[in-house]
Amino acid sequence: MKSMADYREHFPIFENKIYINSCSYAALSNEVENAFLRYLKDRHTLGADWIDWCDRLERVRALFAELLSAKSDEIAVTTSASASLSAVSSSLDFSGPRKKIITTDLAFPTEAQAWHALKKHGAEVVHVKEKNGLIDLDDLTKLADERTLLVAVPLVCYRNGALTDIPAIRNIVRKAGAMILVDAYQGVGAVPIDVAEWDVDFIVGGSLKYLLSTAGVGFLYVREAIIKKSQPTQTGWFAQEDIHAMLIHDNIPAGTARRFEQGTPCVPNLYAVEAGLQFILEVGVKNIRSHVAALNERLKVGVSKIGGKLMSPLNPDHHGAMITVASTDDYALVERLAKQNIIASCRDSNLRISAHFYNNNADIDAVIEALSENKDLLA
Ligand SMILES: Cc1ncc(COP(=O)(O)O)c(C=O)c1O
Repeated sequence: MKSMADYREHFPIFENKIYINSCSYAALSNEVENAFLRYLKDRHTLGADWIDWCDRLERVRALFAELLSAKSDEIAVTTSASASLSAVSSSLDFSGPRKKIITTDLAFPTEAQAWHALKKHGAEVVHVKEKNGLIDLDDLTKLADERTLLVAVPLVCYRNGALTDIPAIRNIVRKAGAMILVDAYQGVGAVPIDVAEWDVDFIVGGSLKYLLSTAGVGFLYVREAIIKKSQPTQTGWFAQEDIHAMLIHDNIPAGTARRFEQGTPCVPNLYAVEAGLQFILEVGVKNIRSHVAALNERLKVGVSKIGGKLMSPLNPDHHGAMITVASTDDYALVERLAKQNIIASCRDSNLRISAHFYNNNADIDAVIEALSENKDLLA
């Protein structure tokens, strides 16, 4: 069996940099690079290989399904998490008494914007507050009622790294009889997801962060029982029951989650996404979660010792792979670290340090050392 140290050797960037920025974009593996090159080579040798490209789309769908312990028919392969959110929002029906959409103050912008855009169709959008960096469950309990259509929560908050307790949210939302959407982008590939355990209606995410590949491919999980009841108006020929029917006098959506897709899949990126997903499944998300948890314990102790202020919840069960540290000038801090060959990122006055399975203790120690040399930029 390969160790995490063996896997690290598949990522050439570590020859030059300490890359600890998977919340933004994963490090590039040899496998994903080769997949991109294979696409270009296939274009030269095979031309337009539609049969393989459509097969590849189905293979990617099956890999996303495996990752979430879902069925392939419950997965739509989209072009971004935002496209997944828009497809869901276009399917919501405000003709009944349920007009309220609940989002949270921890939402990624697109996730909240997708609902606010529905106000012209009669949607009422409310935000659950955060409490100690997490979603305030009491506030959610007050807001979720018989007028609620959908509650949307992030799995991991992109600003502070907080991890949502999805079963606790689900229990509150189901009591109100509403649907639940989880924006899993900051968790998928780093936090295990099992749709049977979660029992939610929609999950959105994409491929470029912990899933190791590229921009241009997102996914949407739709719970089997609600697929046929959902009628997305954001649609297209790849969403039809028969893609080859070339209908122009009707819209006959697929009986599967594919009805949430639209047009030609992002072919070059499917090559890369397939390679990235295979890699993640080989390493195993449970193994990734425990490897990264150990790195993050070391990081949290080190940051506290040098007087840094941790903005992520301290309890390891309450944060994802990303740990955030308050800064007086987060962009300047990211730049200073880059000069020291450490690649991290920032949002909302927080430095975001996001380890993956390819990071090790030496990376963590280098980050702590660099932060201690730049204390003037720590809040
Ligand atoms: C939690 C979360 N949701 C959604 C998005 C948006 O993803 P996309 O650009 O694929 O629409 C991001 C991007 O960083 C994110 O972190």
